[in-house]
Order: sequence, then C-alpha cells, then structure tokens
Amino acid sequence: MSNNNNGVAIVPEHLAIIMDGNGRWAKKRILGTSRGHRAGVEALRTVLRAARARGVRYMTVYAFSSENWKRPSDEVSALMALLKRYLANEVAELKQEGVRLSFIGRRDRLGDDIVAMIEAAERDTADREAFRLNLAVDYGGQWDISNAARLLAEEVAAGRLSPSDINESTVHHHTALSELPAPDLLIRTGGDVRISNYLLWQSAYTEFYFCDTLWPDFGAADLDAAIDEFATRQRRYGGRTEDAVC
Ligand code: FPP
Repeated sequence: MSNNNNGVAIVPEHLAIIMDGNGRWAKKRILGTSRGHRAGVEALRTVLRAARARGVRYMTVYAFSSENWKRPSDEVSALMALLKRYLANEVAELKQEGVRLSFIGRRDRLGDDIVAMIEAAERDTADREAFRLNLAVDYGGQWDISNAARLLAEEVAAGRLSPSDINESTVHHHTALSELPAPDLLIRTGGDVRISNYLLWQSAYTEFYFCDTLWPDFGAADLDAAIDEFATRQRRYGGRTEDAVC
C-alpha cells in the first residue's frame, strides 16, 4: 500500500464500482444468470468489508442501471428479488456496523414494496456515520443530469430562481450524491472499458481503473491492486503540478 509524505496510506475516500461480469461468471459454470448476480452480492459483501478496512469512507455501486430494464424479464425479476433479499437480510447488520445506506436513481419505476424497503433502510440507517454505501438502482447519469435540469426549470418557473443563476454549482446541488465528495476512483470489472451511463456528472475528475476480473471473482487482493494503482496517479484537476514539463 502506498503512503503519502506523512506516511499515511493513499486511499480513495469515495470509491465507485461498476460490478460487471456476473452473467459471464455464471455462464462459465453452466449456471443461470441469476446465480451470477447472487455471487455478485457475495462479492459486494467482501469488497465492502475490505474497502472499510482500508479506510474508504463512501462506496457507490451500480446495482441496476436505467438501461437494465431492457434485459429479459426473468433476469429483471431476479435482480429485483435479490435487492429485496439484500434489504431484508443485510440492513440490520449494516446498521450495527455503522453503515448508512442510501439509494440513487429513479423510484417511480420500482415496485411499491421495493420503494417501501428502500425508504425504511434509508430511515433506519440515517444516523450511521462510520461508512456510507450508496446503491445505484434504476440509475443513469443522463437521467441524473436531466433530472437536475428539470428541478432547476421548476424553480425558475416558480419564480424562485433566475436563469442567470444556473451554473455548475446549482446544477451540482441538484444531482445525486451532491452532499458527498466526488468519487476519487471508479473501478469497472469484467473487461469492458466504458462508463455505461454511470455517474457522468460526478466523475469529471475521477480516476478510472478497468480490470478483466469478473465481479464475483473480485476480492480484497483485487481491491488492493486497484488502490495501489490509484495511489500512483497524479491528480491535477486540470491544473499543473510543479514538476510538469511541456
Ligand atoms: C452486470 O453484470 C451486473 C449487473 C447488471 C447487476 C449488478 C448487480 C449485483 C452485483 C447484485 C445486485 C446487488 C444488490 C445489492 C442486490 P452482467 O450481468 O452484465 O455481466 P455480463 O456482462 O457478464 O453479462
């Protein structure tokens, strides 16, 4: 693990993850896709524990994208059932461990039962501060930005905001996760090198890490490798470091 000049480990404060590869993991084992997603939940448990142990404070994972509705209906049902089981089985333990659970994404297309469970989980863990787990469910980065635009338009229409007040800061405050620092590191497993409509606004200066490991196989050692790579990155945020040569 790399340290900064003060001997403190360089760790992303906010880690985002695209947990890709569940389907291929299952196919390799001649299992149904839903078994892959179940294994994906196990990996999430492992990585959450490892991330906390390494000093990550916030983790935002892509559990179901706006586009995942296009999948076969039995797969969508299996993912929704898995989410319900996760909420039913894990919230008490997360709460006990000091984890605050939050959800980002649309809620109007989810079943009433899931929305009720999401709201209960958020309410039950709202005062926990040791770690924050954000689950992106029916989330899309383009939706997030257009939703911010709609909210701002409503404020303009109501006479509470002038169009000239709309800037990066006002848009930001209407996007998901605006109360948290932006993700420092985004990991995508499963071999594809794209962002798939995840955290488009929030990842402006996020470091990306892509690896071939399928999500259910991703464990603490893989997380260490990603964090070690992150620690070598020079983050300039569009500025210039003293030793940069041009
Ligand atoms: C991508 O793998 C993964 C998803 C679409 C869902 C990710 C969900 C989980 C890890 C489990 C759900 C989490 C909770 C908390 C209930 P893929 O199916 O696209 O894999 P493939 O590219 O190999 O087909």
